Amino acid sequence: MPKQLLPREAYTSAEWFSREQENLFSKTWSFIGLASEISKPGDFVTGKAGHYPVAVVQNSDGELRAYHNLCRHRGTELLEGQGNTGKTLVCPYHRWTYGLNGELRGLPNKAECFPDINRKEWSLKEASIGVFKGMMFVNPDPKQSFDDWIGPLAGAEWPHDIEDASLVAGEEFVYRLKCNWKVFFENAIDGYHLAYLHENTLGGPLPGLNEWESHGQNLAWYSTERDSVRNRIPKFVEEQASKYSMLTIKGAEEPGYGGVYMLFPTTIVTPSPWSLTLSRMEPVDPDTTLLRARTWITKSWMNYADRLKDTPGYNPQSGMIESDHWKVHPLETGDFQTEDVWVCEKMQRSLHSPVYSVGPYSKGSGGEAMLEEFQKMVLGYL
Ligand code: FES
Ligand SMILES: [Fe+2]
Repeated sequence: MPKQLLPREAYTSAEWFSREQENLFSKTWSFIGLASEISKPGDFVTGKAGHYPVAVVQNSDGELRAYHNLCRHRGTELLEGQGNTGKTLVCPYHRWTYGLNGELRGLPNKAECFPDINRKEWSLKEASIGVFKGMMFVNPDPKQSFDDWIGPLAGAEWPHDIEDASLVAGEEFVYRLKCNWKVFFENAIDGYHLAYLHENTLGGPLPGLNEWESHGQNLAWYSTERDSVRNRIPKFVEEQASKYSMLTIKGAEEPGYGGVYMLFPTTIVTPSPWSLTLSRMEPVDPDTTLLRARTWITKSWMNYADRLKDTPGYNPQSGMIESDHWKVHPLETGDFQTEDVWVCEKMQRSLHSPVYSVGPYSKGSGGEAMLEEFQKMVLGYL
């Protein structure tokens, strides 16, 4: 029988959380932006990989470079947001200036203030960058192989690119989840709950009719709910599609590709024949995770994608989706994501009980077996 491997502290303690930052998020890949956002030299995006601020910049040869977004003088954040930085990266504090390849080019009053400095020793600290299907990922460690991580997934069927011309980007939804990032991850790969917690929304499939397939560290989910063939759309999603008369993305009608891709540790890709949703978790502290979700969708469904303000829990003050702002019981919202958030937050509260313990996991990848696999990966880094 698969079983729980991580101790309770893994989900609740600040000490464990900082060990994850130092040992896990320092060596794993985080989504940072779309390759299409960077098209000419000097274009950049900034973001975070775990607690590491990072930036991706295009150099003058058209190559993508990733750096830790910290000035080598006193560590000030160099770039902000996204845009074009021209031919150099200039620190706003004392104006140390770096080339697009990270080399320290100049510093004010050098002769007077730093007569002996060797500029070669003060290049920006490098990180790693990789691109998969138009999505850019960064890794704080400059020596990590992107292919080792994403390579196995390249063999899996993939529906359509995020940059498909028929797709339009919806606005970003930010969920403030009162749970550990692993509670949310584990819920997402738990095949046992779909027919029960989501009885009134997804309504299944039953454990025997869904499967998670491993591709190295990454996982793809398939439903065999209908006709025993791998089909990426639960009936519920198809019903929504017809309700909003959505146009199918060209080439995405055929079944066979996964309906959810979990890219370890924090990226979730959810394609459908009409859309593609990219979600990433930002672990804030042991009990808090921000989930940033964005949907690219065929135009006919835009009114559906832009329903942020109608989403249960939307807080106009923070602009985020927060459980304190639910107006009806989560099971009455008709929204499966709200059902998941509800149960994850319940789990997190339980984890704080000194008598918390976990019983056996259900068998099979359509049950809870993948939770054990996920926990093995986490433990492998700590
Ligand atoms: S901290 Fe960047 S120039 Fe001083
Ligand atoms: Fe769920």
